[in-house]
Amino acid sequence: MMITTLLVAVGALATVPAAIASVVYARSSKATKAFFNPVDGGGSWLNNAGGGVGEPLNVVISGFSSPAVLTNDGILNYARAIGFSEECFGIHLGDPMSADLGDGHGAVNQTMELRQDFGFAGVGTCLESLVGGNHFRVYRQNGPKANSGALFLAVSKEQDVTEHHNIVPDGYNVGRDALIASAEGTKRFGGVTYTTKVERMFNLMPVGATGVNHGIAVDGTVALLTVHID
Ligand SMILES: *[C@@H]1O[C@H](CO)[C@@H](O)[C@H](O)[C@H]1NC(C)=O
Repeated sequence: MMITTLLVAVGALATVPAAIASVVYARSSKATKAFFNPVDGGGSWLNNAGGGVGEPLNVVISGFSSPAVLTNDGILNYARAIGFSEECFGIHLGDPMSADLGDGHGAVNQTMELRQDFGFAGVGTCLESLVGGNHFRVYRQNGPKANSGALFLAVSKEQDVTEHHNIVPDGYNVGRDALIASAEGTKRFGGVTYTTKVERMFNLMPVGATGVNHGIAVDGTVALLTVHID
């Protein structure tokens, strides 16, 4: 497939700047609506965690996904299908973080925060709060300048609560890859069957630790998930 071929070519040139990667996307007729590069609209691939640093937006759920996946209820059911659920009884262990997706809305707080479920609906997320695990914040790109409808996720793997919910070493790359591994292929929850296709977009965000929360380096890869309801 054409888009995939271009992506692989971009990925092969390990030093290609993110700007070039975005040009590749902008000229691809289909991908222009999968999502818009936040940087092109004055936004960032990092959210705002306070103190001038942020978490990477390292997973994008494509605007080409089934529309029902991209609603608040839809992403929640999908998250459950891939092993996440709502925060432990609504207990928020941290402040919301905002992100600017370059869509004209400026900085907007996360739509929701979801945590790994460990297979016990309800109680499982409480377990995650105690023992650590994967979690992600959700942001929707729907402003007037870039209305793709795509969801941008800030995914990370955390230590347990005694570590004050710090991110584990390499926790952004590790969290992203764990989410991809759970999501790829066919999953079901609540009577809905999802098929997820994953593309890795290399060097789309800046590589390294500059501006990244906790000074944890990222490898620059953003995963694009296209999710279809069968
Ligand atoms: C995000 O939420 C916090 C807490 O409710 C609030 O103080 C802050 O102003 C919000 N930020 C944005 C950008 O809406």
